[in-house]
Amino acid sequence: MKDDTKLIAAGRPHRRPQHPVNHPVERASTILFPTYDDFLEGAKTIAYGRLGTTTHRALEQAVTALEGGYETRLAPSGLQACTTAILAFVESGDHVLMTDAAYDPTRKFCDKFLKRFGVETTFYDPMINEEIEALIRPNTKVIFAETPGSLTFEVQNLRALADAAHKAGAKLVVDNTWAAGYYLKPIEHGADVSIQAGTKYLAGHADCLIGTLTSADESTANLIFHALLQLGSNVSADDAYLTLRGMRTLSTRLARHQETALKLAKWLAKRPEIERVLHPALKGCPGHATWKQDFSGASGLFGAVLKPTALPALKSFFNAFKLFTMGFSWGGFESLCIHVHPEKYRTATSWEEEGPVIRIHAGLEDPEDLIADFDRALSYLQVTKA
Ligand SMILES: Cc1ncc(COP(=O)(O)O)c(C=O)c1O
Repeated sequence: MKDDTKLIAAGRPHRRPQHPVNHPVERASTILFPTYDDFLEGAKTIAYGRLGTTTHRALEQAVTALEGGYETRLAPSGLQACTTAILAFVESGDHVLMTDAAYDPTRKFCDKFLKRFGVETTFYDPMINEEIEALIRPNTKVIFAETPGSLTFEVQNLRALADAAHKAGAKLVVDNTWAAGYYLKPIEHGADVSIQAGTKYLAGHADCLIGTLTSADESTANLIFHALLQLGSNVSADDAYLTLRGMRTLSTRLARHQETALKLAKWLAKRPEIERVLHPALKGCPGHATWKQDFSGASGLFGAVLKPTALPALKSFFNAFKLFTMGFSWGGFESLCIHVHPEKYRTATSWEEEGPVIRIHAGLEDPEDLIADFDRALSYLQVTKA
């Protein structure tokens, strides 16, 4: 089956007379077993609400169908998917290699939380290839990648990272949120775990938080499952339902996000107020050649470096938008544009651009209206340095 069919067919109720199209929301803490044999059998599948109900299993099946791999488990947020995918594989005295372009809270989890438990982190240049081997230590257990980086959009060489990780007996974990499991299949490129903040494109409507962890094989899946279990993770059945509902239209939405983001990016690249556009599908983006090789498309999130400009002009620019709004997160139907600060979150590399960086999420509005909105906002930017 092709992905577009899987997105419709996976995780649907079994055919029986008068069944609904969608799995119902099955909310539960206690699950009941009428007989002793049911009780024994149930413990292996659906035993207690925290371990999920049929609603959760349906979403997990759909995500596995999309990502490939052995099994998917859910987390209550994308961030917890990231943190659990590290915790599952480390113990005190271990070492983690983390991309320098990681989503900041993932970074902070390493710097602050893991450190307290004696797990050390080395940040690496997201553009690294085989040279990652020189950073691997005997106690390295996880290489974590985020491709493209969600602030600066470097596309990573997953095959080089996977080979190095596996040679050292470590796991490669990939934050695959940008490609939504649709435009990139990290497990095909050697990842042991592909995670997503399903909060973004899977759910797709800016109204629910959820994380997904898809493991490549059974032993990896067991470690992930037990980490979630021991941490007491729980995902509401309503959120699992909303996410699965969102996935039914994922490919249609992504096609539109892609088209509009590319239109906007190309239009911005020609504007005098813009220094550089950061879009994996455009030539100037670091890792563009890898994007061409490994990805089958691009989602709606990209960045741009503005020419240096004074703060009052920047404020007027943001305040002038009528369609784009400011808000964290992305992947919903609405367009967003925020000021981001990659220079604050780098240690292995440095961010040298002088001008402010903006991050844009191209929503599902009419692209011409979005361009007109940007045009109006840009007119408020007085370029102080050409
Ligand atoms: C790349 C990436 N990973 C993970 C997350 C965390 O997801 P959540 O907000 O669901 O915790 C985000 C959120 O912005 C993100 O951009």
